[in-house]
Amino acid sequence: MQLKAPRGTYDILPPESSKWQYIEGILKETAETFGYREIRTPIFEHTELFERGVGTSTDIVTKEMYTFKDKSLRSLTLRPENTASCARALIEHSIYSGIMPAKWYYIGPMFRYDRPQTGRYRQFHQFGVEAFGSNSPYLDAEVIILLIEVLKRLGLKEYELHINSVGCTQCRDVYRQKLIEHITPVKDRLCPDCQTRYQQNPLRVLDCKEKSCHQAIVNYPTLFQHLCSDCASHYDMVKEALKANSIDYRHDDNLVRGLDYYTNTAFEIHIPGIGAQSAVGGGGRYNGLVEDCGGPDLPGIGFAMGIERLLLAVNTLAAKGLDSGKSDVFITTMSDQYELQALELLTRLRQKNIRAEKDYMGRSGRAQMKYADKLGARMVIIIGDDEIQQGYFTLRDMQSKEQVQIDKKEIVESVKDRLAKFRGGNG
Ligand code: HAM
Repeated sequence: MQLKAPRGTYDILPPESSKWQYIEGILKETAETFGYREIRTPIFEHTELFERGVGTSTDIVTKEMYTFKDKSLRSLTLRPENTASCARALIEHSIYSGIMPAKWYYIGPMFRYDRPQTGRYRQFHQFGVEAFGSNSPYLDAEVIILLIEVLKRLGLKEYELHINSVGCTQCRDVYRQKLIEHITPVKDRLCPDCQTRYQQNPLRVLDCKEKSCHQAIVNYPTLFQHLCSDCASHYDMVKEALKANSIDYRHDDNLVRGLDYYTNTAFEIHIPGIGAQSAVGGGGRYNGLVEDCGGPDLPGIGFAMGIERLLLAVNTLAAKGLDSGKSDVFITTMSDQYELQALELLTRLRQKNIRAEKDYMGRSGRAQMKYADKLGARMVIIIGDDEIQQGYFTLRDMQSKEQVQIDKKEIVESVKDRLAKFRGGNG
């Protein structure tokens, strides 16, 4: 049997990996500009973290987690998301007793057992930011502005930002009761999952993936109509801040998000045209999460974006990003006996950060030139008998086809200067 990557996973091969590096560079730079610093948490955590953080009646916890026992019979889970892990790290390292807010970003793989399709994978990658310690509605706005800035820097102009407020525990308690009363008469028409969870967590019926559930509960009362005055004014201030920053949004009564930890502001960003899985990012406030994970009563807000979905949306990447797989210079040897000289020169060029390559397949001189072309090399350094005897290298410009002879001692500097001119010329 031929071994293949498991269903819902895939390899990222060159040149595709250049696109990843390009996108990741923009994500990191944007987050750093906004004052977020990188956090790296383990790929697996104690299962209990996600049960307590994400919620035992969510689809993620009930159906989608990769959970396994290790050799000591501990239950561990491959992280399906990273917000709960950040909350755990904040508590474990007592970050909350330092300077607040703590502002973090992360990029890495997440794991969910779901039916794979375009834009939905079992191992996928998220870029996310989390800010702990402040309840300011302007921090909600900052996080959303960051998300939009990322899209702008990626050249994505067609997007829809949906926002809502899912209130605090107080307004939600009143609302929950109203929703249960609305659902109970039609409970037999719900999917089996919702029939068992609607009493405990009726909000999950609202974001259930089954159409029949939505048809059954049509005209349900919305959470937005039940916000307490504090939550309503928090939401108004977020919207005002977005307007002041010229960010278009759509208030969406139906947006509740599929994870239990959300309070107040919730948002999602959709890019039409990338298929059924159009949500490239989502997030919101989670003022109870840190406490639910065993820490102090500390508010938080953040979002995560699916990098695969961003890639689907970014189909015309800036040439700069795609260029990154190319070589600057290729060394062609006209005889095997000069290979050692080539390798030594290669090392000196690379020490100056010049992308240099040579042949390792015993190609003829002609075939090496063809190969250099394939690698996208701007210049070729030729080492042949004349060169070695007379102490120079021949430098060939692959675009103009011009060749010049350069003293051996000056070759590295000469290549460097020419590259700087190329780069300057091409912006
Ligand atoms: P989420 O909405 O579950 O939120 O995921 C965020 C984004 O990850 C989605 O909008 C989507 O782009 C991407 N995504 C999710 N599942 C998959 C999948 N199976 N395949 C490909 N992409 C996927 C969270 O994970 C929250 N932790 C976000 C957050 C951070 N809220 C507050 N802080």
